[in-house]
Amino acid sequence: MQDIIDVLISRKSIRRYKPDPVPDEMIDKILEAARWAPTGENYQPWRFIVITDPETKNKIGDLARVGSGSRMTAWYCMGEMQKRFEKIQDPDKRARVLEFMYSGEVSEFARHAPVVIAVIGDLQVGSVDVPYDLSAATENMLLEAHSLGLGACWVHGPVATSRDAIKFKKILGIPTGMNEYKVICYVAVGFPAEERKHPRPKLPMEDLVYWEKFGNKERP
Ligand SMILES: Cc1cc2nc3c(=O)[nH]c(=O)nc-3n(C[C@H](O)[C@H](O)[C@H](O)COP(=O)(O)O)c2cc1C
Repeated sequence: MQDIIDVLISRKSIRRYKPDPVPDEMIDKILEAARWAPTGENYQPWRFIVITDPETKNKIGDLARVGSGSRMTAWYCMGEMQKRFEKIQDPDKRARVLEFMYSGEVSEFARHAPVVIAVIGDLQVGSVDVPYDLSAATENMLLEAHSLGLGACWVHGPVATSRDAIKFKKILGIPTGMNEYKVICYVAVGFPAEERKHPRPKLPMEDLVYWEKFGNKERP
């Protein structure tokens, strides 16, 4: 059995894409990877909508910008965002970064992705496990995309509130009843147009793992 740790460690969220279309075979492989994720009771409640239509992607981009913009404006007003970026010394650069965030522009990148895959759960099957099953499927998609040389990003913020999730459902013609489908996220996919030199910093293992009992950091 092959160890896939290198694939896991080298994956990064990619938010800028070349305009080149993603070949159908690659899209199929990404979807195939999702299909093989573990799922409670083998219910497989995941459903996917593959979107390449620019008009639909633009609507998703607009939704993301507005939703994210209002959330981040609130953080800005509470001073949280300024705190997060206070290490940027240059005041002009800091102002630009802050505006990029609170305008919501930070979240609208999916409109430029050649492919967006909506990940939704059928609540009529396996409703208890839907978020977990679909998260497993989403991770499989990110890993397969990465191993094919594509860049991808899991996007949840713009569909996190029920109000935004309903707007997203309307864009895609998903039934809007509360007990019908749950929007988990969407995944933006394309050939990477950014070279991210360093992965995001990860917490050290010793902060995450206890041995035998909660709080015990000594490995027996
Ligand atoms: C549940 C979940 C929700 C996420 N939502 C967003 C999002 O709304 N927008 C975004 O740009 N990235 C989103 N991401 C990507 C994370 O920002 C990213 O995984 C994290 O910063 C770590 O970076 P890395 O994936 O490059 O290791 C999300 C990731 C997960 C797992």
